[in-house]
Amino acid sequence: MTDEYRWWQSGTIYQIYPRSFQDSDGDGVGDLNGIVSRLDHLVSLGITAIWISPIYPSPMADFGYDVSDYANIDPVFGSLADFDALIAAAHARGLRVILDYVPNHSSDQHPWFIESRSSRSSAKRNWYVWRDPSADGGPPNNWISEFGGSAWSFDRASGQYYYHAYLPQQPDLNWRNPQVAAAMLDALRFWFERGVDGFRVDAIHHLFEDEDLQDNPPNPEWLPTMSPARSLIRTRTMDQPEVHDAIIAMRRVADSFPGDRVMIGEAYLPITRLMAYYGVDLGGFQLPFNFHLMSTAWNAAAVATLVETYEAALPAGGWPNWVLGNHDRSRVASRLGPAQARIAAMLLLTLRGTPTLYQGDEIGMTDAPIPPERVRDPWEKRVPGLGLGRDPVRTPMQWGEGAQAGFSSAEPWLPLPPNFEPTTVASQLRQPTSMLQLYRALLKLRRSEPALSIGGYRAVSADENVLVFERFYQERKLAIALNFDDHAKQLSVPGGTGRVILSSHLDERPSLEDPVELRPSEGVIIDLN
Ligand code: NOJ
Ligand code: MG
Repeated sequence: MTDEYRWWQSGTIYQIYPRSFQDSDGDGVGDLNGIVSRLDHLVSLGITAIWISPIYPSPMADFGYDVSDYANIDPVFGSLADFDALIAAAHARGLRVILDYVPNHSSDQHPWFIESRSSRSSAKRNWYVWRDPSADGGPPNNWISEFGGSAWSFDRASGQYYYHAYLPQQPDLNWRNPQVAAAMLDALRFWFERGVDGFRVDAIHHLFEDEDLQDNPPNPEWLPTMSPARSLIRTRTMDQPEVHDAIIAMRRVADSFPGDRVMIGEAYLPITRLMAYYGVDLGGFQLPFNFHLMSTAWNAAAVATLVETYEAALPAGGWPNWVLGNHDRSRVASRLGPAQARIAAMLLLTLRGTPTLYQGDEIGMTDAPIPPERVRDPWEKRVPGLGLGRDPVRTPMQWGEGAQAGFSSAEPWLPLPPNFEPTTVASQLRQPTSMLQLYRALLKLRRSEPALSIGGYRAVSADENVLVFERFYQERKLAIALNFDDHAKQLSVPGGTGRVILSSHLDERPSLEDPVELRPSEGVIIDLN
């Protein structure tokens, strides 16, 4: 199909949260060999690439997002040999492998930070962001950590504070120091040489802070029920202009390797500001993650406006992408409910742009209840009771009805929800209209229809809470109609005649219909040729 498109444009990305995907060695934590044993599920699902959240050595203060060695594998996940075997097994099945890259901060146990904090005259002092206390002995300014509390921690021995956008155990690297940039780019090379197909770059909008350490202004819209970090408008700590040169440097490393390597940026930013992350002449990220489907009001008009705004904002040649869920956000089936989660699946897999799925969403997993004594997420521990904790969306993948849902032979690190049995891969494979069957059908269609994977997009209407749009490629034309309501709707087929080729209810429809009768929360894909 159509050589001028890259795999990361026509394909679909699937996020694996490795601690919770599949445990192979009975310690209750997922691992690399576990992933290998489940690759066939992903092949039959129809995805193109896996992105694996961090698997590097880590004290696990933030479950892998605190890296203590950028060029190795944490023993809980396996070894470098296991990793090489995973790459080989994935590539043999035609699956690409994307790793997570955490450039903003290391672990406080990384040898670089241990050396940096050892004294003010350490050769690596300037590898992190150290500052003197303010006049009253307190932190240098008002900056707040994403996980609550001051973003500065005091080091008694050397008498200075260090900056951390996240936990005190995650000191920010100083990317203004060229030695830091060079060492961190070497980490990318290490994995590209081992055959990885790309990176998802963590927290990129935090890479630089204002050099003069000016205070962030207060946020008048903040309420005590919101994350403490939101009490300030983070104008001095996020999205600073220097970030773009760093991204260009990362992209150059990716481009220096043969094959189509991809760089994906994680930045929670308004659409207008997000566009800068494609870089001048598209020399930045190929895919700056677009998270806006997770925060937009769930109705046809709001989604239509979002798609139109996003499409219009894209730079010339910039490729779109869409995300419905990840390991940080409430699951789509909990946000929208089971019926609309099917509409969301059809939307994600029929919009123009690379879709990213989060593990478990393909079977409609919901946020799991976490008893207080099982809480693991440091955010929940530091800022309890506001619903900020991410444990509910990180519980084990539900493979089968048996003990531990087939995830492990031991008690998993996070609990399974009660009554998970209908929401497993095994049970949904037996059920012809399950969520899993819907995802498989949608991905199969997307793979066989260039109109869906690489074709153009045309908005049609968003009346009466039904979103209608067209996708087309050469002579081929499809219409997608999504009923965001729980009432039936009548839809006049664009162009007057068509044939429903897929309903989100996964049952047969009359071959030619006009008008099409849309059932409550039903989406259809209509062949207009
Ligand atoms: C974003 C990651 O997705 C999140 O899980 C992590 O806690 C922070 N970045 C810090 O690395
Ligand atoms: Mg294990």
